[in-house]
Amino acid sequence: MPDDTPALDTVPAPRESFGPYRVCLVCLGNICRSPMAEAVLREELARAGLAEAVRVESAGTGDWHLGEGMFEPARAELARRGYDASGHRARQIKRGWLGRYDLVLAMDRANLANLRHWVSDEGTASRVRLLRWFDPALAADDPYQGEVPDPYGGPPEGYALAFELVHAAAAGLTERLARALGLPAPGRP
Ligand code: 4NP
Repeated sequence: MPDDTPALDTVPAPRESFGPYRVCLVCLGNICRSPMAEAVLREELARAGLAEAVRVESAGTGDWHLGEGMFEPARAELARRGYDASGHRARQIKRGWLGRYDLVLAMDRANLANLRHWVSDEGTASRVRLLRWFDPALAADDPYQGEVPDPYGGPPEGYALAFELVHAAAAGLTERLARALGLPAPGRP
């Protein structure tokens, strides 16, 4: 794995002392991985009592699917696991949006590089990361190099894998956010 992976990532402080903490999940098309991650993270946050404290959005770096719903196999994988993302509509992230978010989490290194290419200040660059850096089980010999592999156009197993990977990272991120925002971590009394 490239030597850029923190052992267990911590969340940056919020930009503002008021309002919700703002997270944007980013993939290429915004029809498979990032909307999956959005639905799963939102549910983890709700279970942890953080639904109001953290606002979750998603977007893609590409513009091919603007306004479309989730790609059917991705939507079906989520539905199979009990998540409803039928209201999703694909968006393309704009350079000017990056300053709005406390954390921008890319699904793979191509997305990460494209986003960081836009950023000139160190403060914003440090907020742009890979989602899976928050997976507490992420190992140095991770077979996916810390990424959520792109399942688009591939077999159903790719969508199941994407779900598993975003779920593990979303749970880790939720725990980190609970600590950072001074709220109880999930599962704690
Ligand atoms: P996503 O998957 O980035 O996880 O939404 C893709 C969706 C569409 C395309 C590529 C990846 N595409 O090339 O249209």
